[in-house]
Amino acid sequence: MRRLWRAVLDQVTPYEAGPSIEELERTLAIDGLVRLSANESPLGPAPTVIEALRREARRAHLYPDGGATALRTALARTLRVQPEWLIAGNGADEIVSFIARAALDPGDEVLIPHPSFEPYATEAMLGGGAVVRSPLAGYRTDLDDMRRRVTPRTKVVFVCTPHNPASTIVPAGMLLRFLEGLGDDAPIVVVDEAYRDFCDDPDTPDGVALARRFPTVIAMRTFSKIAGLAGLRVGYAVARPEIIDRLNRVRAPFNVNRFAQVAAVAALDDRTHLKRTRSLILAERPRLAAALQARGAVVPPSQANFLLVRVGEQAGPLRQALMKAGILVRDGAGVGFPGHLRIAIGTAEQNNRLLEVWTRTLAR
Ligand SMILES: Cc1ncc(COP(=O)(O)O)c(C=O)c1O
Repeated sequence: MRRLWRAVLDQVTPYEAGPSIEELERTLAIDGLVRLSANESPLGPAPTVIEALRREARRAHLYPDGGATALRTALARTLRVQPEWLIAGNGADEIVSFIARAALDPGDEVLIPHPSFEPYATEAMLGGGAVVRSPLAGYRTDLDDMRRRVTPRTKVVFVCTPHNPASTIVPAGMLLRFLEGLGDDAPIVVVDEAYRDFCDDPDTPDGVALARRFPTVIAMRTFSKIAGLAGLRVGYAVARPEIIDRLNRVRAPFNVNRFAQVAAVAALDDRTHLKRTRSLILAERPRLAAALQARGAVVPPSQANFLLVRVGEQAGPLRQALMKAGILVRDGAGVGFPGHLRIAIGTAEQNNRLLEVWTRTLAR
């Protein structure tokens, strides 16, 4: 018999994002379900973004600018790099797949913290790479352990800061020493900063500055979180033009759609909305963390727009009770942290509702 599909697919399970929000509203018969399970923005996109999307609708029949020129130019201005240092992706997800496709030969090693954002391993496997996992030290990325696992076969290293799902950052000094320690023959180091916009720790590294300094660093960011554009899918990478050139060779001609591009440009223009979103997270994050700690949960120091919360055996009952009340949170078991819940920071009102249900459930 002809073997139609690649053997590696037997090792990959389709990404389980769960039912859509619309389907859940229907099955739970709840209008206005609050989804705190996907690390989305509690405020959504800026009104100016919605207006830009409306204006763009009449051009839906025209292919987008394959090179995302306006977006790259706007980002270049914001980040103080040249546009040649940028590539846009259909979400940061797609950037991960570009890197795997462009860099990996069979047997090349891809070093990732474990657990971590699932697509790193999936894309590495699909690219024919061998996944090497470095266990987290508690809730922290263990760069010493990662350094020990770097071999001559290591092609790509993923560092996620803030880490999903652990929510913690890799301190800037430690990351710098790690990169220096890799020397002149360093592998590609992807610094995934999907949640960087929510950091207020002065020790937060700056992936773009690191990409300027180290020739194999790729900083990866997204409009999904801070700009509230998760539904449009737009992310980007910042790296030296030689790297961007390689990534462009595996990119489909029109990978980022027209709406995603105009929305991202409008989002960058609306600094007020970005600031409002950041302020909300920075105000609610410590309040929610303290309230959950007061209720007996263990909450590692989050620098992201979500908390990872250790509740032990209460994880199941709490998640069920919250779901009944119309609030979805992520089961930690699904992201490598059994006995935990991963909870996106909502609006003050949503967080209060969550705390009420929490208190009621624990009192039972
Ligand atoms: C750590 C991390 N990196 C990258 C992404 C992907 O972002 P995007 O929505 O731009 O594909 C996510 C999304 O949740 C994430 O958690």
